[in-house]
Amino acid sequence: MNKITIIGSGSVGSTIAYTLTVQGIASEIVMIDINEEKAKGEALDIRQGVPFCTPCSVYAGSYEDAKDSDIVIITSGIARKPGQTRLDLAQTNVNIIKSITPNITKYAPDAIYLFVSNPVDILTYTFCKCSGIPESRILGSGTILDTARLRARLSEYYQINQQNVHAYVLGEHGDSSFVPWSVANISNIPANAYQKAMENTDGMLIPPLNYADVEDYMRKSGGNVIRRKGATFYAVSISVCHIVKCILSGIDTNMTVSTMLNGEYGISDVCLSLLTTVGHKGVVNKLNLPLTESEHAALVHSSECLKEIIKKVQI
Ligand code: 2OP
Repeated sequence: MNKITIIGSGSVGSTIAYTLTVQGIASEIVMIDINEEKAKGEALDIRQGVPFCTPCSVYAGSYEDAKDSDIVIITSGIARKPGQTRLDLAQTNVNIIKSITPNITKYAPDAIYLFVSNPVDILTYTFCKCSGIPESRILGSGTILDTARLRARLSEYYQINQQNVHAYVLGEHGDSSFVPWSVANISNIPANAYQKAMENTDGMLIPPLNYADVEDYMRKSGGNVIRRKGATFYAVSISVCHIVKCILSGIDTNMTVSTMLNGEYGISDVCLSLLTTVGHKGVVNKLNLPLTESEHAALVHSSECLKEIIKKVQI
């Protein structure tokens, strides 16, 4: 029996509820939104498809209904508009998180909290500071989505199954994110040697991977989707459901998610994404990757960008 509460029934929250249902991940899903009618409509729409899924109770509720939730997913906040950076949203969404915090923690003090709304690192940080919930039970979806975009791009480039691509995006879910290429590999072959390995197999000639272009593609992906359809919600929802599935499975899994740093890589008092082991109780460990000097500098730079925002918003 897995109970998940989703706060916010906009496109992201509703798509997460839908994906959890279709994938048979939860047995009970509570949808909470300030607009109760919207939450009721979304829950009803999903519930009417449940006869074709693993049984799951999906309903709209109040904070009280979040009691005994295993995981609470926060998607509330104003969505990023075309041309707007994630960080422009900061103060408005920080205020929303601060107003939600006492209501939800009162009823679900033992849940794992998973933040999705943007700017996700700042909101995760806000909750760490305001909620009284142990940091090990607070995480943000962070760069799991950027990592997915990176893997998708590399898989397209090399025409190979995404499962064979092991590469990560660290830092802010935003403009200062970066790829530690020194630990990126395809089927255990370092990313920079894979092209050569491919040429040996059937003489195919693929131009060498341009790291800067790939990182640019990854960083601009969210903006490019928003420009075309006004929002992003499918890929983020699938990423969030992956996190939930791993937590509930009880099998410790490495993934890039945002958590509070306490001295890792010499960085403290900021939330950002590292390669993190996530398990049944939340954050199990943050892996100490052998970053190169420039990758370490990129991580420090990303933390400084986030700290600048933290300084400017009232938490
Ligand atoms: C994304 O990157 C908007 O942060 C969201 O898709």
